[in-house]
Amino acid sequence: MRELPVTILGFGMMGTARAVAYEAVMRYYGATPIKPVLYQAYTYTDAEAAGATATGWEATKDLDAAITNPKTEYVDVCLPNAMHCDAVLKAIAAGKHVFCEKPLSVTVEEAHKMVDAAAAKPELLNSVNFIYRRVPANVYARKLVKDGVFGKLLEARSFYNQSWGGPDTDYSWRFSATGGTLGDLGSHALDMLYYTTGMRPIELCAMQSVHIPYRYKPATVGSDLEGRYNKKAKDLAEVWADWRKDADAAANGGETSRPMLKVDTDDVTRIMYTLPGGAVGSLECTRNAWGTENTHGYELYFERGAIRWNYDDMNYLGIYDASKPERGWSRVLCNRGGFAYPTFADGHMFGYRDLLVNACYENMLKIAGQPEVAPIATFQDALDVERTIEAVRKSWTEKRWVKLDEIA
Ligand SMILES: NC(=O)c1ccc[n+]([C@@H]2O[C@H](COP(=O)([O-])OP(=O)(O)OC[C@H]3O[C@@H](n4cnc5c(N)ncnc54)[C@H](O)[C@@H]3O)[C@@H](O)[C@H]2O)c1
Repeated sequence: MRELPVTILGFGMMGTARAVAYEAVMRYYGATPIKPVLYQAYTYTDAEAAGATATGWEATKDLDAAITNPKTEYVDVCLPNAMHCDAVLKAIAAGKHVFCEKPLSVTVEEAHKMVDAAAAKPELLNSVNFIYRRVPANVYARKLVKDGVFGKLLEARSFYNQSWGGPDTDYSWRFSATGGTLGDLGSHALDMLYYTTGMRPIELCAMQSVHIPYRYKPATVGSDLEGRYNKKAKDLAEVWADWRKDADAAANGGETSRPMLKVDTDDVTRIMYTLPGGAVGSLECTRNAWGTENTHGYELYFERGAIRWNYDDMNYLGIYDASKPERGWSRVLCNRGGFAYPTFADGHMFGYRDLLVNACYENMLKIAGQPEVAPIATFQDALDVERTIEAVRKSWTEKRWVKLDEIA
């Protein structure tokens, strides 16, 4: 078995989660043709460096050296979105396999550059972490649609909603122009639409909004999670009242109780779109919907039935067969033999970490030239998502329907 030295760039939420996943690949999937071995991490803060070295691997604060290190064959990009393109281009130029977090890029131009660079080196992996492709229920949904079990698609609805984006969450890269909700959450929902139906919007009309136009400057640097976790336990009505006073002052050039930064992106996006074959759909994403935590899902309505999935209950797929005399939703357990990923006993449920293990496992299969369980997302797939994101922004800026053909 060949060993593959892995470097992870960024050691925030995804970098640390990914480190766990690589270590678990061989334990979950003993027959993996290539064994990923953690070699080095690019860490931004001292705490991250300590976290990496404590687990026995190297940490460096020299990003370029980490990317081009001749001892590494595979670079995993878990950096803030604005840093993806440069890191990916340098990694490909240095002959490394690349696994990159979503969204692949922050502009369509960047995504084109990455697609071109990958195309010039077809021997290298180009894979993007649209992680929800790795859910057994979604692998099964994709198969049902592909097999045409319920006929033609008529309508689609998808959502990716969270609730952590209130005024007590400090500013981070996620609120800069390159980190908004559409790229963060909407990109997943757009990829899932494509993954399950094989279709991308032809034309769309969108709106975006910002609920919190100014946020407090964080006291820490590094992972944005620190800001999210360090919220003071305070009455929410008081949080909003204090913030409103400060936000009004910031908007009018006045004094604020703590330094504030302007938010340059969307808190919420809604899209309506048309699909090939006459179907229509809608998509919503937000970080301000109480009661949702990581509520990502879809409903697909066909001529003779429907399919629905929700991450909150991710091991099950909802199936409605309208041809049966006894109509009703079936809650189908997809975490069992024959549905997608082997190894586990029936009904021993998957969680988020398992999805990451599956993703890393399938990257190893792909590098070894073996078929994946279900297709990984390539840079080209992610470019198509970026084109849709660009069309959404254009639609809202120009207040009109935009055809995807308008985006290069
Ligand atoms: N696929 C998924 O399900 C999923 C989930 C979460 C995040 N992500 C993606 O993963 C990537 C990283 O997100 P995260 O949640 O780990 O973020 P994070 O904020 O927790 O971590 C980002 C990392 O970059 C470092 N960093 C921050 N600012 C930096 C700077 N100016 N220069 C250099 N390093 C800097 C941080 O210290 C940290 O190591 C993003 O692209 C995000 O969209 C994907």
